[in-house]
Amino acid sequence: MMNEKIFEESKKYMPGGVNSPVRCFKDMGINPPVIKSGNGVIIKDEDGNEYIDFVLAWGPLILGHCDVDVVNAINEESKIALAFGAPTKLELEVSKFMCENLDTIDMIRMVNSGTEATMSAIKLARGYTKKNKIVKFAGCYHGHFDGFLVEAGSGVLTEGIAGSQGVPEDSIKNTLIGIYNDEKSMEDLFSKYGDDIACVIIEPVAGNMGVIKAKDSFIKTLRRLCDEHGALLIFDEVMSGFRVAFKGAQSLFEEKPDLVTYAKIMGGGLPCGAYGGKREIMEHLSPLGGVYQAGTMSGNPIVMAAGLATLTKLKNNLDGYDKIEALGKKLEEGIARISEENGIGSVVNRVGGMMTIFFTDDSKVESYEDVKKCDGERFKRYFLHMLNEGFNIPPSQFEAVFLSVKHTEEHIDKFLKAFEGFAKKEAK
Ligand SMILES: Cc1ncc(COP(=O)(O)O)c(C=O)c1O
Repeated sequence: MMNEKIFEESKKYMPGGVNSPVRCFKDMGINPPVIKSGNGVIIKDEDGNEYIDFVLAWGPLILGHCDVDVVNAINEESKIALAFGAPTKLELEVSKFMCENLDTIDMIRMVNSGTEATMSAIKLARGYTKKNKIVKFAGCYHGHFDGFLVEAGSGVLTEGIAGSQGVPEDSIKNTLIGIYNDEKSMEDLFSKYGDDIACVIIEPVAGNMGVIKAKDSFIKTLRRLCDEHGALLIFDEVMSGFRVAFKGAQSLFEEKPDLVTYAKIMGGGLPCGAYGGKREIMEHLSPLGGVYQAGTMSGNPIVMAAGLATLTKLKNNLDGYDKIEALGKKLEEGIARISEENGIGSVVNRVGGMMTIFFTDDSKVESYEDVKKCDGERFKRYFLHMLNEGFNIPPSQFEAVFLSVKHTEEHIDKFLKAFEGFAKKEAK
């Protein structure tokens, strides 16, 4: 029982035994397995149990665990470089790759996490527009920066709290909350506060209230309102970047953002983040402009090596996205069929390799309000059943399952068989 022993001891030294809240399975009423190793889509815990992984480190590992090219790149780089805090050719290569491959990115700045990317993008937007207010959407999560911890998704939503203690009123007084996919709510916000709004930040494919894609007309409205009022539109692609398509969620919409944030996949499994966009905006960053943002480890050579290996491999194997789409379709259709056959009310939302099963009798889930109506108790039974059957899925209704190029039809068949077992139990 090494899992239990290690986790119980971890609780003595780390709050909740973890370094990020959602990992502790608090709402699921059990201790999490303690993971020791991963290869492809199989992870092993300290007791030697194996799981087919549909979490993939919460998204980054689109090439699966310990992809040979990524590991080789890390090994090779670590022989000559750990950190310099100085310009390197590798950071140029990753920056150039992103600027050349992503239509909206003229210039980019590397940071160390998704939170750092989004909070820095907000600061840049405020510095550029000389305005203070930001708009975020209920149910979207952009990291743990104070100004975002209002009606946030992901772990904040799982904890059932409106935000976080320790956030002064002053830090959130300039945060306005929009309703996802509700154009009228945005017209109203802009007519009231339009002249003070620096930016609108959105997960264009939301993953932190479960998967919900923004409607085309909604993004069009955001673009128009931002243009009319001199505000910037920021796509938070920390999760959707290089995932829902090689060029990310921005390639799924006609209207384009001014700034985009990245992390997860672009770091190849190591701590990483970035934000980029139009040159005239990015040039407001220090040392060229007056918006100060810095980082000792930003553009770290090992991280850049892992990122470049990942991004290059994805680009050279674009059919990997077709494979993920086919597997996702099979999974989505299978779950819908099994749910229907067993009278389990469910809505399956999927965009490429990210998907959520919502347990609800409604016919669609398009906003945070819809998500909140879902059956959390059924989700919990589903989670515990799947874990017991050897599947690692997120311990929350408000998260996404992720697919990688290393998943196969056999993994999907096994998932569907396990899901059928759950559905039959529920139908009784
Ligand atoms: C859309 C989005 N933005 C920002 C973040 C924060 O990223 P990090 O956890 O790397 O700080 C996350 C994390 O899941 C995310 O999904």
